Order: sequence, then C-alpha cells, then structure tokens
Amino acid sequence: MHRPIAIAKLALVLAAAAALSSGFFVVAHAHASCLPRERDALLAFNQGINDTYDALVSWQAEEGAPHHDCCLWAGVTCSNQTGHVTELDLGGTDLVGQISPSLLSLEHLEYLDLSWTSLHEPSGRVFPEFLCSLHNLRHLDLSDTFFSGRVPAQLANLSKLEYLDLSATLFSGTLPPQFGNLSDLRHLDLSFMKNIHTPTDISWLTDLHLLEYVDMSDINLSTADVLLVANTIPSLKALILINCSLPNADQTLTHLNLTKLEQLDLSRNYLGHPIETCWFWNTTSIQELGLDETNLYGPFPTELGGMTSLQRLYFRRNGNSATMTVDLKQLCDLGEIDLDESLAFGNITEFVMKLPQCSFSKLKHLSSTDNNMTGTLPDMMGHLNSLQVIVLSNNSITGAIPSGLRNFTSLEILELSLNQLSGQIPVLARSLISLSISMNYFSGHLPSDFGSPYLAKLDLSYNYLTGHVPGHICELKNLAVLDLSNNLFEGEFPWCSPSPSMEFLLLSNNNFAGNFPSWLQNCSSLVFLDLGVNKFYGRLPAWIGELVKLRFLQLNHNMFNGDIPVSILNLILLQHFSLASNNISGSVLSSLSKLRVMTLEHPLGVGSHWLYGDLDILSVVMKQQELKYGGYALDESGFLRYPVLHM
Ligand SMILES: *[C@@H]1O[C@H](CO)[C@@H](O)[C@H](O)[C@H]1NC(C)=O
Ligand SMILES: *[C@@H]1O[C@H](CO)[C@@H](O)[C@H](O)[C@H]1NC(C)=O
Ligand SMILES: *[C@@H]1O[C@H](CO)[C@@H](O)[C@H](O)[C@H]1NC(C)=O
Ligand SMILES: *[C@@H]1O[C@H](CO)[C@@H](O)[C@H](O)[C@H]1NC(C)=O
Ligand SMILES: *[C@@H]1O[C@H](CO)[C@@H](O)[C@H](O)[C@H]1NC(C)=O
Ligand SMILES: *[C@@H]1O[C@H](CO)[C@@H](O)[C@H](O)[C@H]1NC(C)=O
Ligand SMILES: *[C@@H]1O[C@H](CO)[C@@H](O)[C@H](O)[C@H]1NC(C)=O
Ligand SMILES: *[C@@H]1O[C@H](CO)[C@@H](O)[C@H](O)[C@H]1NC(C)=O
Ligand SMILES: *[C@@H]1O[C@H](CO)[C@@H](O)[C@H](O)[C@H]1NC(C)=O
Ligand SMILES: *[C@@H]1O[C@H](CO)[C@@H](O)[C@H](O)[C@H]1NC(C)=O
Ligand SMILES: *[C@@H]1O[C@H](CO)[C@@H](O)[C@H](O)[C@H]1NC(C)=O
Ligand SMILES: *[C@@H]1O[C@H](CO)[C@@H](O)[C@H](O)[C@H]1NC(C)=O
Repeated sequence: MHRPIAIAKLALVLAAAAALSSGFFVVAHAHASCLPRERDALLAFNQGINDTYDALVSWQAEEGAPHHDCCLWAGVTCSNQTGHVTELDLGGTDLVGQISPSLLSLEHLEYLDLSWTSLHEPSGRVFPEFLCSLHNLRHLDLSDTFFSGRVPAQLANLSKLEYLDLSATLFSGTLPPQFGNLSDLRHLDLSFMKNIHTPTDISWLTDLHLLEYVDMSDINLSTADVLLVANTIPSLKALILINCSLPNADQTLTHLNLTKLEQLDLSRNYLGHPIETCWFWNTTSIQELGLDETNLYGPFPTELGGMTSLQRLYFRRNGNSATMTVDLKQLCDLGEIDLDESLAFGNITEFVMKLPQCSFSKLKHLSSTDNNMTGTLPDMMGHLNSLQVIVLSNNSITGAIPSGLRNFTSLEILELSLNQLSGQIPVLARSLISLSISMNYFSGHLPSDFGSPYLAKLDLSYNYLTGHVPGHICELKNLAVLDLSNNLFEGEFPWCSPSPSMEFLLLSNNNFAGNFPSWLQNCSSLVFLDLGVNKFYGRLPAWIGELVKLRFLQLNHNMFNGDIPVSILNLILLQHFSLASNNISGSVLSSLSKLRVMTLEHPLGVGSHWLYGDLDILSVVMKQQELKYGGYALDESGFLRYPVLHM
C-alpha cells in the first residue's frame, strides 16, 4: 500500500532534479533575447495591420506575457549571439494594412518574406522604398503582393541580395538594368509580372555571375536574345521562360556554357521549327525539360537518348506533327514522360520496348493520349513495373490488355479509353484506383474478381461485355464511379452492401433486369443515376426521396410501373429526370416543374472528393455525361444551362 506514495516521492525528486539541471542548461545556453528597440519596431508594424487570420497572435507586448521576448514571436528569428532580429517571415499570412517605416530599425534583417500579403505604404499601393535601405537583406520575397508603380530600381541598393522574388506583382515599366548590380544574386523570379513593357532588355543579366535560377515566365522577351545572354552565365541551373513570346530555340552557338542546367522550360512559346534543331539536345545535365505548346515538329533527335540525367519530359499539345522513335533505354532517372496531343503517329509496341530498361526503374508516369498510335501493348513490360499512371486514351491501339500488368504493384491509374483493344478484361493490379477502358472492343464476361480492392473509378462503358455482373463488385468499398453503360450485361445487378462513397452509377443500355436496386437506399452520396434502356421493373421505392444529392436521374425505357413516389419532391438538387417509356402513372407530375425551378438555385461542383491530383470526379464525369447525352451544357457558374424534364 505504501508503494504508490514511495513512487510519487521518487517522481518528485526526479522532477526537481530535472528542473535544476534544465535550468542550468538554459542558463548555460541562454539565447540573447530581443532588443527593446527592435521589439518596439515590430509592435509599431503590427499596429498598422489587420491580422484577420491571427497570424501574429503571439506578438504580445506586455511585461510577463508568455512571449514578451520578440525572438519567440511567430515569423521572427533572431541571431542567438547578438539578439538582433535577422529574419521576418510573414509569407502567406494574408496580412492587410500598412508597412510601418519602423521596420527600418531592424538593421540586421537578412531575410524578409512578405509574399501573399496585402501590405502597402501609408500613401497607397506603391512600393515602400525605405525597404531598400535594409542593406543587410539577403533574401527578399514580395511575390503575390499588390505593390504597383514602376519596378523599384532602388532594390539594386541591396547589394547582399542572393534571393529576389517579384513574381505575380503589379509592378510596371521596364526591368531596371541596375539589377545587374546585384552581384550576389542566385535566385531571381520575375515571372507573371503582367505589367512589364516590351521590348525587354535583359542584357544586365550577364553581370550576375552567380545566378542559378531565373524565371521570367509571361514576360514578352520576343526581342531579347535570351539564349545569348543566358549562355554567359555558366552557373545557371534553372531557366524558366514559359509564355515569353520567344520566336525560336534553334540558335547555333559556338560554345555552349550551360553545362549545369538542370531545369529548362520553354512551354507556350510558338517556336514552330523542327525539334531536332533546338540548341539544348547536347545539354546532358538537364533533369526537367518542358516543351508543352511549342509547335515543335518532326522527329525527336537521337541525342535525347543520351540525356541520362533526364527525370521529366513534357511535350504536350504540340499539334500532332512530331514523332518519337528514340531509344530511351539508358534514361534510368526518367520518372515522367508526357506526350499528349503531339505525335503524328507511332507504334506503341516499339515505343514501350524503347522505354528505360534499368536495374531499378523509376518511371512512374507515362502519358501519350490523342496520338494516333497503333500496335499492341507488349506482354513484355516487366521493365516498367514502377509505373503508377498509364494514360493512352484516344489512339488506335489493338490487341489485349497484357496480363503482366497484374504484376505492376504501384499502378494506380490505367486509362485506355477510345482505342481498338479487345479480348476479355483480365485480373488487374491490386494497387489500381482508377480504370477507364471505355469505347473499345472488350467482350466476354467480367472476371469474378478484378483483383483491385481499392478501385474508386471503374469505367467499362461502350464495349461488348456480356453476362452477369459478379457479386465481387460489392466488395469495392471505395467505388465512387461505376459506368457499365452501353454493354451487353444481363440479369439482376448483384445485391450489394453498398459502397457508401458511390456518386455515379451508370448501367444504361444493357439488359439488366429486376426491381429498382434496393441496395441503393444506403448510397446517400449518389449524384448521378442512369438505369435507362434496360429491363428493370416494379414500383419506384419511396426511399428514392432520401437520395437527396441526386442531380441526374434517368430511368427511361424500362418497365417500371405504379405511381411516382411523392418523396421525389425532396430531391431539390435534381436537374435532369427522365421516366419516358415506362408504365408510370400518378399526379406528382405537375409538381415536378416546380422542382425544376428550385434546382436552378443550386450551383454544381461542391463537396466532391478528389481521386488523383486535380482530377475531380464530379466535374470530369459530369463533362463525360454532357458529351454522351448531349444538350447539357454547364455555364461558368455551374448551372445546367438547359435543364430538361423528359416524361
Ligand atoms: C480591418 O478590417 C475591418 C473589417 O474587415 C475593417 O473594418 C477595418 O477598416 C480594417 N482596418 C484596417 C486598418 O485596414
Ligand atoms: C544558434 O541556434 C541554432 C538553433 O538553436 C543553433 O543550431 C546554432 O548553432 C546557434 N548558433 C550559434 C552561433 O550559437
Ligand atoms: C540607393 O543608393 C543610391 C546610391 O548609392 C543612393 O543615392 C540612394 O539614396 C539609395 N536609395 C535608398 C532607398 O537607399
Ligand atoms: C548600378 O548600376 C548602374 C547602371 O547599371 C551603374 O551606373 C551604377 O554605377 C551601379 N551602382 C553600383 C553601386 O554599382
Ligand atoms: C502570355 O503572356 C502575355 C504577356 O506577354 C499575357 O498577356 C498572356 O495572358 C499570357 N498568356 C497566357 C496563356 O498566360
Ligand atoms: C510581344 O512583343 C512583340 C514585339 O513588341 C509583339 O509583336 C507581340 O505581339 C508581343 N506578344 C504578346 C503575346 O503580347
Ligand atoms: C561563356 O561564359 C563565360 C563566362 O561568363 C564568358 O566569358 C563567355 O563569353 C561565354 N561564352 C559564350 C559563347 O557566350
Ligand atoms: C550534339 O553533339 C554532337 C557531337 O558533339 C554533334 O554532332 C551534334 O550536332 C550536337 N547536336 C546538337 C543539337 O547540338
Ligand atoms: C495516323 O497514322 C497513320 C500512319 O500510322 C497515318 O497514315 C495517318 O495519316 C495518321 N492519321 C492522322 C489523323 O494523323
Ligand atoms: C483523338 O485524337 C485525334 C488526334 O490524334 C484528335 O484529332 C481527336 O479530336 C481526338 N478525339 C477525341 C475524341 O478527343
Ligand atoms: C508495331 O511494331 C511491332 C514491333 O516492331 C510490329 O511487329 C508491328 O507490326 C507494328 N505494328 C504496326 C501496326 O505497325
Ligand atoms: C507475375 O509475377 C509472378 C511472380 O512474381 C510470375 O510468376 C508471373 O509469371 C508474372 N506474370 C506475368 C504475366 O508476368
């Protein structure tokens, strides 16, 4: 009985000892605390500001307040030797208000981040030039702020600056050549400054001998000879020039200095010359190459196969006039290759056989849609088993889905819609989340077990699949989109303990029979239900009115009978309801027109969940249905422009 007390005593002794020793520790390593003059400067700054999101709630002045020491305030960092404030990081805080000149007291400030704030000078949105007197600054981030007026040439006074980000600011005029004085600069981001004038002289960049990163996206550089300038800066690692009105990239240089270049992005410049003549193909240091929307054409050069540092190649939307037959087998770091809407033709068999063949494959993302590719998917794809995403929609690929795909243990997305694939649907990779093989010539019965328990999207529409849907479908607990429409399925749909996340269910244009599926009663997330053109029969259940998220309900061309349940009036989001060609009677019909008016008040696109990256199931499937059903156009605010009531 005494033991607990003894233990408690022991604990007390230990705690006291710990307190003593930790006190000693604190004294021995005391960080210098905040200087009163600098604290007052921060408080004066805080006074001019509206801190809607409580970002500065720790900035408390009173003696004895938990954070009287301003070195402990959010966003503030001090030198632990001198106690001077060296860093002020207010980026992303959404602070609104005035920048107090009191900040000038922070003479030792080296790092200032005001990005994503709406701070300004007392007199307006002009840039507070006094910031150019913080001469110890090494890092200045003003991106996504609302400062306007001419680009402040006085920034060139900050001679220690290593990092300058003015992206997405509203500064106007020309880029000041004085920036060439910033000889320590390593990182320069001038992208998306939409008020900068052309012609843009950037010759001052040649004075920045330490520059590693430069982004001038969206600045019109049509008259600046960017490559000649860049080539004088051998330290460059990243050159990002998206949408810069560059006229070409086929300059010939006597000597290429850019041997450290890792990232090159020339996307959205309409270069319009052969791919082969671009200047960068011998730059084997490149890791990421962006060439989307460049109108480059012709064959890729063999040099591509020697760019062994390459990790990502983007060549999308280039107008179907390029060809890719290069041997990429040695590109062991390649993680992503994306050629959508760019090739004139190609043979998928040969393309796949030339993809990296390394002892450890890193290729995760392969995309080549809308490319008029023929041939079959080879069965020997084992060298690519690191793939997570395979997207080859809208080509002319023939043959079957290779059974080896089952062994791709990371595969999450497989999109093969709009091809000429045939054969049965094989057992698939266990990791698969999304399978779209719509509009092919697949036939036969479904496998009794897909082998992919995590499937969230399964689109098998527009094929020649037959037989009953296996009961296994009920075990896919994550299923949100199931499209089996336009096949030759028959019989009753299996009785499911429902996938609670089901949002889109399309069974139309088959020979399904049976009563209105009772398991749907628990699918409270259902948005889109199409059972049209089947052999369903019986009465519509009253609980249909509990599916309150329904926007689209199509039951036409079945053998449903009886009354329309009054509960249908609960479906206030309904935008399309079709019961045509059934044996329905009842008096609810006249009330339904009221329903239609109500639906117009509810915008689309809320609350749906995300499948992968920015692929929003709701909007994607909704768009597909618009195409398939025709006539349902969404306007910008998400309203159905032509709500239709087919009876
Ligand atoms: C702070 O925000 C409130 C409410 O939005 C507004 O009324 C007030 O004028 C703002 N104050 C300053 C200094 O901007
Ligand atoms: C200052 O503090 C940091 C973090 O506690 C520590 O890593 C650094 O070594 C200290 N510098 C000096 C000079 O004491
Ligand atoms: C910038 O430097 C110039 C010349 O050194 C000086 O005249 C000017 O006052 C400085 N501007 C600021 C804002 O410190
Ligand atoms: C800054 O650049 C301007 C123009 O490029 C030049 O005239 C001036 O001497 C430079 N100032 C310093 C301090 O280097
Ligand atoms: C491309 O840059 C120009 C300015 O040079 C800008 O007006 C235009 O909006 C940009 N286009 C796109 C698609 O961002
Ligand atoms: C870029 O500047 C050139 C020359 O001033 C002009 O012809 C062209 O239209 C500009 N491009 C854009 C996208 O504004
Ligand atoms: C390569 O860079 C060096 C150093 O900046 C420069 O002197 C030389 O002119 C550059 N070569 C070319 C062809 O621009
Ligand atoms: C790449 O280098 C080889 C050999 O050095 C040369 O023949 C070829 O023309 C170069 N290609 C490009 C695009 O510069
Ligand atoms: C598709 O590729 C074939 C060659 O495989 C070519 O004859 C045909 O013109 C291409 N079609 C289109 C639309 O480019
Ligand atoms: C399929 O790709 C071709 C180019 O190969 C394109 O012209 C066509 O519009 C695409 N079809 C669809 C439905 O996207
Ligand atoms: C595609 O390439 C393979 C392998 O070289 C060849 O056997 C097949 O005939 C080609 N298919 C087409 C449609 O050209
Ligand atoms: C899949 O892997 C298993 C064992 O890892 C192997 O026996 C089988 O042949 C592979 N299947 C295919 C089609 O490659």
